[in-house]
Amino acid sequence: TSTIKKKLLLANQQILVTAGPTYEAIDPVRFIGNHSSGKMGFAIADELASMGANVILVTGPTAQLSKAQTIKRIDVTSAAEMLAACESNFKNSKACIMSAAVADYTPAHVAPQKIKKQDGGLNIELKKTTDILKSLGEQKAEGQILVGFALETNDEEQNAISKLQKKNLDFIVLNSLNDAGAGFKKDTNKITIIDRSQQKTVFELKSKDAVAHDICLKVVQLING
Ligand code: CTP
Ligand code: CA
Repeated sequence: TSTIKKKLLLANQQILVTAGPTYEAIDPVRFIGNHSSGKMGFAIADELASMGANVILVTGPTAQLSKAQTIKRIDVTSAAEMLAACESNFKNSKACIMSAAVADYTPAHVAPQKIKKQDGGLNIELKKTTDILKSLGEQKAEGQILVGFALETNDEEQNAISKLQKKNLDFIVLNSLNDAGAGFKKDTNKITIIDRSQQKTVFELKSKDAVAHDICLKVVQLING
């Protein structure tokens, strides 16, 4: 497609994208995080912008920068902050692509001062975070498209299908850590897309930009019925 034609694919559509990890504070100097680089989510946001969408990018801590100047970036740190930013922007969005690596657990209490080391070990009590995607799935209105990711090491397809159903998604992007060239800090990714009818599309290993294109085209197809 030419650049001009491409710009029309998602013209005037607001699309919410999440990217990066979340950091869950333990005390003023420490946190629980994960290895997400934000690369996949930023590539998706750029691709949606080049298809003409009004992109809102909610991102956890990352060194990534967007190429497209039109993207509205909202920086958050914790899963709770990401939830709040998503909830306030989902209603007016045509679609949401949830590629962030959201913490499943957060410290039950944040120490107000730096925890001093003592003899013996240290136990940190954790509580569950809200599943943002599941919560958006419960709020989803007719015509809205919701896309999730699944990162799996085993029983990949079965686990992905169960997430797709539990979270009321339109499709899920399965990443297997067993695929060479796929994963956190890499510039390439290998995905399988599974949709609501459990139709499965296996893609080749490719650059994260090319993977983003495949994911965004699927969103375009769903929006256009
Ligand atoms: N997700 C979310 N909020 C959370 C945890 C996950 O929105 N608190 C989203 C992720 O952004 C991703 C999808 O849910 O799009 C699946 O994340 P994943 O970690 O693969 O699955 P979980 O449902 O968290 O299950 P588990 O980690 O036990 O495999
Ligand atoms: Ca998880």
